[in-house]
Amino acid sequence: MAGKGGVGKSVCSAATGLWASQQGKKTLAFSMDPAHSLSDLLEVDIGNRPVSIGENFDAVEPDLRAEAEKFYASYRSLFRALFEMFQFEVRPEDFGVVPGVGELIFMDRLYDVYMEGKYDVVVIDSAPTALVLPLLKLPDVTTGVVTRLLGMKSRWTGIFNMLEPGFGDSVVKEVRRLRTKAETMRNAIIDPEATTISVVLIPEKAAVLESERLISTVEAHGVSVNSIIVNHVMEACDCDYCRRKAASQKGYIDEIKAKFGDKKQIALLPSYSEEVKGEGLGQVARDLYEKGQLKL
Ligand SMILES: Nc1ncnc2c1ncn2[C@@H]1O[C@H](COP(=O)(O)OP(=O)(O)OP(=O)(O)O)[C@@H](O)[C@H]1O
Ligand SMILES: [Mg+2]
Repeated sequence: MAGKGGVGKSVCSAATGLWASQQGKKTLAFSMDPAHSLSDLLEVDIGNRPVSIGENFDAVEPDLRAEAEKFYASYRSLFRALFEMFQFEVRPEDFGVVPGVGELIFMDRLYDVYMEGKYDVVVIDSAPTALVLPLLKLPDVTTGVVTRLLGMKSRWTGIFNMLEPGFGDSVVKEVRRLRTKAETMRNAIIDPEATTISVVLIPEKAAVLESERLISTVEAHGVSVNSIIVNHVMEACDCDYCRRKAASQKGYIDEIKAKFGDKKQIALLPSYSEEVKGEGLGQVARDLYEKGQLKL
């Protein structure tokens, strides 16, 4: 689930996870937003390791700070080499906030989940648009950087090995490991049999524009968006305010349908009278899936 801030990505992710688990699929909700919100929505304390939410349903909110140190430790030579080459220093505990590193860490965790193969469905609750784009570009970027680093192999490996015997060789080994993971995840993301992407939006100008940009950027990277969820659609009401608002929403919904309706599933969700969490997610799940608006 991807989309602009506050539009309902986490609600849709949690509801999708709930629905999948109710269909008997072993499901994991995986939060990829450093500002996690699955705990609040599911009303369970979720942590760095998967916890059980219900039958067939687990959730995890990877803790970037804790993971950063582990990640740093498992690529120690590579990062030491980068720091030596580019002359910058960072304390391991601050490492998770270095641009791009958070995405790498999430990718690494996701890779482990993917390879373990314990779940039939993994629902990823993504960060707002600006944060999710680097993640989708990541496999390309990582492959590019890593290829370049390997290209420098002959020059740098020797120098690093002179600094400390074996150092250069372990840099190359770690670079290869990272590349394998990035490639595996890229292949999984671009495989329509393995991954589906939903963009969540609200029927307002800025959100529609941002979502259109998000979709074209994502698709330019070879990843196709399968469905669009239009959230907070107003119920019909006779007052002047609602009539005008509903008319304006309809304009945007029609625009979305005209632009994407032939290629993507488009689902509408009402604006519920209460904030959606806990039990309320069951209603969202039924509204999205039971009536056939979306398929898992
Ligand atoms: N259709 C709806 N009706 C009523 N409340 C909703 C609806 N969809 C979402 N909400 C509420 O809006 C708030 C934001 O939703 P949510 O956290 O899912 O958005 P988000 O896109 O994940 O936000 P962020 O970008 O901050 O991660 C939540 O409090 C949620 O309960
Ligand atoms: Mg969210």
